Amino acid sequence: MSRRTPLVAANWKMHKVRQEAKAYCSDLRQRLAGVTGVEVVLFPGPTLLTTVAEGLAGSTIAWGGQDLHPEPQGAHTGDVSAAQLTDVGCSWVLCGHSERRQDHGETSELVGAKAAAARRGGLKPMVCIGETEGEREDGRTFEVLERQLAAALDAEPNPGALAYEPVWAIGTGKTATPELAQEVHEFLRQRLGKLRDPSFAEALRILYGGSVKPGNAGSLIVQEDIDGFLVGGAGLDPEPFSGIINSSCA
Ligand code: PGA
Repeated sequence: MSRRTPLVAANWKMHKVRQEAKAYCSDLRQRLAGVTGVEVVLFPGPTLLTTVAEGLAGSTIAWGGQDLHPEPQGAHTGDVSAAQLTDVGCSWVLCGHSERRQDHGETSELVGAKAAAARRGGLKPMVCIGETEGEREDGRTFEVLERQLAAALDAEPNPGALAYEPVWAIGTGKTATPELAQEVHEFLRQRLGKLRDPSFAEALRILYGGSVKPGNAGSLIVQEDIDGFLVGGAGLDPEPFSGIINSSCA
């Protein structure tokens, strides 16, 4: 079990409308009443942020955006700025989720620029990295991760958290084994120590993401370098999500 406070986040992706978001927030608050020793963050879609802000007001649960534009404002149709996210109470933002990299061609350099814009705008960037199945099969996992990590840190040396999400494990039901995930997390912490400094590396939370469920969270969180989870599918329902949270702070 790591010495860092666990951080567990739900990425709602392009799911839910306001009524569902409202019901989710009140259900999750009831389930988490009295739960301590863990930080919880929700990443709803942009139209749901004000509803979530109202639904979570006065709770310890934080929320954030799923993406942002690197510019502070301007002619960028369909994009959202750091200021617009903080305006609705966001404290976090995801940068470089693999679906953004795949669907929108985001490069590691752009992801770094987004993380820097987030930090400048008062948000904690949760930088997502991960290899594809083909890259793992070709034995390029560590090379790919190193490149993604270095590009992000180059632009923004102070990410709020790092999320390791092997692309082959996202939404597929194929979770990385605890040993495989630990091997990567340990590698990332070592690289963070070299690229930044050892005390920063020791303090930064590195989350695992990819088919996390209540049934596998316990065996992952006991690994030394796994400090929490970024959850997709199982984060859409407060019941499994709170199960994952409970396993993370036990
Ligand atoms: P999943 O998604 O839990 O549904 O695999 C994880 C993510 O994309 O953050």
